[in-house]
Amino acid sequence: MTRIVYVNGAYRPYSDAAIHAEDRGYQFADGVYEVCEVRNGSLVDERRHMRRLRRSLSELHMDLPMGNRSLGVILRETVRRNRVKNGVVYLQVTRGVARRDFAFPPSGTEPSIICLARSLSSSKAERKAAAGVSVITVPDIRWRRVDIKTTGLLAQSLARQQAKEAGADEAWLVDDDGFVTEGASCNAWIVTAAGKLVTRPAGSDILRGITREVAMEAAQRQRLEFEERPFTVEEAKAAKEAFQTSASGIVMPVIKIDGQPIGDGKPGGIAIALRRAYHEVAEISEPHRLLA
Ligand code: PDD
Repeated sequence: MTRIVYVNGAYRPYSDAAIHAEDRGYQFADGVYEVCEVRNGSLVDERRHMRRLRRSLSELHMDLPMGNRSLGVILRETVRRNRVKNGVVYLQVTRGVARRDFAFPPSGTEPSIICLARSLSSSKAERKAAAGVSVITVPDIRWRRVDIKTTGLLAQSLARQQAKEAGADEAWLVDDDGFVTEGASCNAWIVTAAGKLVTRPAGSDILRGITREVAMEAAQRQRLEFEERPFTVEEAKAAKEAFQTSASGIVMPVIKIDGQPIGDGKPGGIAIALRRAYHEVAEISEPHRLLA
């Protein structure tokens, strides 16, 4: 099947799609993005993702002369044309094409919008969750506004590569004081010996994950206690459970940190319960007419 990508108003086969060499996304990582889960042909938490996209745009003083309804059409059409039943849809907006200059281009410069969708195997994801993942810890070397979901992801890419080379699945980033900020592409959580969920408060030093928010709601519904506060690597290693959250991984149990088993070295009961309950709490859109 030919994969289709949306680029600035047109749906094109990958081989025909092109971005200008002077797109500011390319030269300055001057762009923002969202990744939304697709489940049984429906978008998961679209409203929340669109709200965060608007916030990222506004923090970067970037205009997007297109409403959420139109963006919703692009997301759905990209999902449909790629026949994605389960997977993710990726939307990226950059400040557009302009002669290379650090200052912004003239107002009226059209933003560039691209959208792509990818199938992911749900059975593979479930197997991964049943086994749990391992993480390593690395220094967080990112800039101070990681609450904005920009395409400037080089620090995260380096961290993930380091994890891969160490035979781990993910890297958890650690601030100068020894506290975990978040994962390279996920939010980090632990469960204390007393059974309390702990995750870092959403300031400018982590991305306020949509999955994190929904998982908190799921925890509340299950009457689980949770606390938003920073935790150290040592506390994480001594925790009863650890897990991470993201749109592509939902709630993913962590069984090892820097080679050290967490709890009994198996996925924790709370992480498994939150993963199961997740889609009862998330907002699910109408499914697209997938294979009609
Ligand atoms: N990553 N923290 C970082 C640094 C992330 O990149 C992500 C998401 C999250 C979790 O956010 P959410 O729950 O809204 O997906 C936290 C996406 C999935 C990605 O870049 O592929």
